[in-house]
Order: sequence, then structure tokens, then C-alpha cells
Amino acid sequence: MQDNHIVVEKSEDGSGVLVIRFNRPEKKNAITQAMYRRIVKTLNFANEDEGVRVVVFLGTEGCFSAGNDMADFLTYGMGQVTEPPAGFEFIKALAEAKKPLVSGVDGLAIGIGTTLHLHCDMTVASSRSLFKTPFVDLALVPEAASSLLAPRVMGHQRAFALLVAGEGFSAKQALEAGLIWKVTEPENVESETLEIARKLAAKPPQALRIARDLLRGSEQEKLQRMDEEFAHFSSRLKSAEARAAFEAFMRR
Ligand code: COA
Repeated sequence: MQDNHIVVEKSEDGSGVLVIRFNRPEKKNAITQAMYRRIVKTLNFANEDEGVRVVVFLGTEGCFSAGNDMADFLTYGMGQVTEPPAGFEFIKALAEAKKPLVSGVDGLAIGIGTTLHLHCDMTVASSRSLFKTPFVDLALVPEAASSLLAPRVMGHQRAFALLVAGEGFSAKQALEAGLIWKVTEPENVESETLEIARKLAAKPPQALRIARDLLRGSEQEKLQRMDEEFAHFSSRLKSAEARAAFEAFMRR
């Protein structure tokens, strides 16, 4: 990985806000194994470091993330990698995150670029954002415990439209569905996201932690669903229909 594909910035104002930025705009911030590993390391650090109060996910102008890197999907599907995919470690780290997660989206949020917000506590999105998960079109299945969390958040029909039918949600639809907290103009996404993070970071940390845990429910349940999804996901990755879909994307 180029070192700058994930940029980690700790606020200098002492507020305890740690920003993780997807920064691979030339590939629409598609996430590689190395990028996942860097984020997992950062989330683990955030869990342990008392100076970190809130973690923020941001992308770049016009793009949050196009999801998992397609070339990596293809490599896994061809059985060329033996170690567990770092993407799986990443989603588990989301479920295990001890500090509030806040996200700011401007533009494309595809695949894990959408489902990660189900683990965030507050998300701001620009009016031009698009949330979409083409799992089934890629012959895959939903991940990141989205099959558990999305129906709870938005009801079966909207979750089905998003996760199975692969319908894109505008920012307005995502707001109505309860996937995000607020819609704003593109130029205000980062400032408003950071403002929310700073406000949360200023609250009494222990009360914040307990209150968040109460609202978020069982970590074990999410991890268990992630395991179930992952068993399907990894065998789907190796299927002929998934490989055909990845190759079609690579050939475009
Ligand atoms: N993995 C790897 N590379 C990706 C990528 C991904 N998920 N998404 C985009 N890219 C790359 C493209 O291959 C292209 O690279 P190139 O310039 O070297 O050819 C570059 O990013 C720009 O993408 P492009 O498709 O030209 O931009 P677009 O604005 O026309 O479309 C998307 C953007 C995100 C809609 C489209 O790229 C796409 O559908 N990507 C795949 C998303 C996806 O299915 N992710 C997995 C979900 S499970």
C-alpha cells in the first residue's frame, strides 16, 4: 500500500478526535487488504488509547469509498491467498469499537462503504451521496452484520431493496431509512462531521461509553452474524458466477 491510502490524523486541538480517511481517489477509494490492516491497527489503538474519544471516517471529495477492491476479490476467489481476508478483521473491529464512530460521506458509498455506517453512531452525508450495495449482482451476500442490522434499522423492505435488490439510496432515502443522521451540502460535510465528533468527545467518556453500549446491543450477536455471513461470503467469492462478475468489472 502506498502509505497515504489511509490517512490517520489525530486532532491537534486536544479534543480526542481521531480521523481515518480513505485516500485513494484514483480508484474511488476502493479498499485493499493493506488499507484494511491499517484501519484495524488504528481502531485497536483507538480502543486502548485514553486520549482518543471519538473515531471519524471520511473519504475524499465526491467519494467516500467504492468498497472492497475488486482485484483483491478476484485474487481471493482464485484461492491465491491463504490468510483470512483483512476485510473480515476490519468488520469485526467495527463491531468491537469501544469509542463512538462518526462518519462523513460525500458522494459514492458502495458495498462496505455503505454497510460500515450501520456501525457508526452518527453519519453526515452530502446531498449528492449515493449508498449502494451490489452484493447479489456480484454473486455475493451481505456482510458486516448488515443482514442483522439493516432490517432492524430500516425494516425488511428497505433493507431488502438496499442489500439484496441492490437499489441505490440517495442521501434523502438514507436519511428516511435511518441509515444516516443528517444531510448537508458537500462543502459542509467535513466541518459538520468534525463538529459532531468534537461535541461527543467533550462529553464524560465513561457515561458516553455506557450509554453507547446500551443502545448498540449485543456485540456477540453481531460477531456471530458476521461469522455466518462470512462463511457464505467466502464460498461465494470462489464461485464461478462471482468470478465472472469480478472479471467483467476488471475488463471494462
Ligand atoms: N475496486 C477496484 N478498483 C475500483 C473499484 C473497486 N471496487 N471501484 C472503482 N475502481 C477503479 C476503476 O477500476 C477505475 O480505475 P482505472 O481508472 O484504473 O480504470 C477507477 O477506480 C475509477 O472508476 P470508474 O469506474 O471509472 O468511475 P465511475 O465514476 O465511472 O464509477 C463506480 C464509479 C464506483 C460506480 C464504479 O467504479 C463501480 O461500480 N465500482 C465497483 C464498486 C463495487 O462493486 N464494489 C464492491 C462492492 S461489494
